[in-house]
Amino acid sequence: MVRRMAMTTCLVVACIWCSTLVARGDGKTASADFKPVASVGALMHGQGAHFSALKELILYGEGPDRALGMAAEAEVLAELANVNTLHGEKEDYRAWTKELRDLALQLAGEAKKGDKADNDGIRELFKKMSARCSACHDRYQK
Ligand code: HEC
Repeated sequence: MVRRMAMTTCLVVACIWCSTLVARGDGKTASADFKPVASVGALMHGQGAHFSALKELILYGEGPDRALGMAAEAEVLAELANVNTLHGEKEDYRAWTKELRDLALQLAGEAKKGDKADNDGIRELFKKMSARCSACHDRYQK
């Protein structure tokens, strides 16, 4: 009985340890002591700026710079959302950061198709991202 409990505890600890090591993106892993260095306010300042820039490009961008710009802005937003995950303890907070990250990555992927990109799809993804911003703000922005 005691042995089984010890075994279970070991497994749980090992899982927590692994999950802190596993990160997304090109198979890179974060070191266990990786911590965000910016305040949430500063992160949000960045999210606001990149979100506006992305919107401008979606609405008014032209030529090949539009696709490259949209992809880069969306990827930066995905990364900001990614690190924001570590600022929340609550499940809903973390879920919104992850959804925002995944939607932004989808948008970046679509934008990279250039002329073949689905523009309505891009607009739809942008709206879905915006809904995550609002959902979290309604609950957590004081
Ligand atoms: C998971 C939660 C969460 C998500 C998702 C989120 N935010 Fe925020 N945001 C916050 C919190 C918390 C604050 C309040 C930060 C503070 O005042 O320190 C905030 C504040 C802001 C502010 C005001 C910053 C300031 O200067 O006071 C802006 C702008 C902002 N967010 C933009 C965005 C945009 C754009 C998105 C979506 C692309 C977004 N946020 C998504 C949590 C979130």
